[in-house]
Amino acid sequence: MNHDYEKLLNCVKSVRNRTSFVPKVALVLGSGLGNYAESMEVEMILDYHDIDGFPISTVPGHKGRFVMGYVEKVPVIAMQGRVHYYEGYAMENVVLPIRLMKMLGAEILFLTNAAGGICSDFQAGDLMMITDQISSFVPSPLIGENIEELGTRFPDMSEIYSKRLQEVISSCAADFDISLKKGVYLQTTGPNFESPAEIVMYKTLGADAVGMSTACEAIAAKHMGMEICGISCISNLAAGISDRPLCHEEVQESADRAASRFEKLVTSAIGRMKEMKIGGQNGL
Ligand code: HPA
Repeated sequence: MNHDYEKLLNCVKSVRNRTSFVPKVALVLGSGLGNYAESMEVEMILDYHDIDGFPISTVPGHKGRFVMGYVEKVPVIAMQGRVHYYEGYAMENVVLPIRLMKMLGAEILFLTNAAGGICSDFQAGDLMMITDQISSFVPSPLIGENIEELGTRFPDMSEIYSKRLQEVISSCAADFDISLKKGVYLQTTGPNFESPAEIVMYKTLGADAVGMSTACEAIAAKHMGMEICGISCISNLAAGISDRPLCHEEVQESADRAASRFEKLVTSAIGRMKEMKIGGQNGL
């Protein structure tokens, strides 16, 4: 059996020894939603340390655990602390948690992150719904022997971010009077922030925001047939767009300032996913 698949099955077994909780939505909590789990009706918390073979995140401010519970009566598995490529993990480990959440039953993947704003309309503190992505600057998580049990060798990526989930998020933003930008997210490897010349290049290529996560997770999820949506919190203007040097503390602070709007938008959007049937569109 494929080694990565075997590892994944061991993780599933390890989780299933502790809980029979079946999520509908997998929610990845980025900076700004670090305390989101406190608003959930929690059923079970599972530390990554307690899952055999699970990669552990080392970023300050990122907790390392799954929180399983309910958001507006929808069963949700939330990842508090993701695994980043820049920590030195192989891509198959970076996306292992995403694959695991799908194998536990999650059909929808809700990605969140903090990102640097490239689009000239953006300000620090804005929320940007991700409409598409550029992952060309990081290796694909699908490189290597294809895991046939998960998906096809050459998966289609023409609609990574589900149009109907984008409609759900847009209508929630309108109903709650939350200003929502839209744009293309570009992933770099990190951990260094970009140079101003790199930001000019990314802008030319069509990126509106830049970050160090998310796009690879979306690819792995799409490979498995999940329906995906994502929101970036624009925590700072990208290098050269702002004249100030960038630092992790600033990213954290502005993400914290956006937290209550961000939480409201995520909660209301998940609430509206309750009745959604997966499988109706895009060959899912
Ligand atoms: N660049 C890359 N990643 C980021 C940034 C940025 O400016 N802000 C938050 N994450």
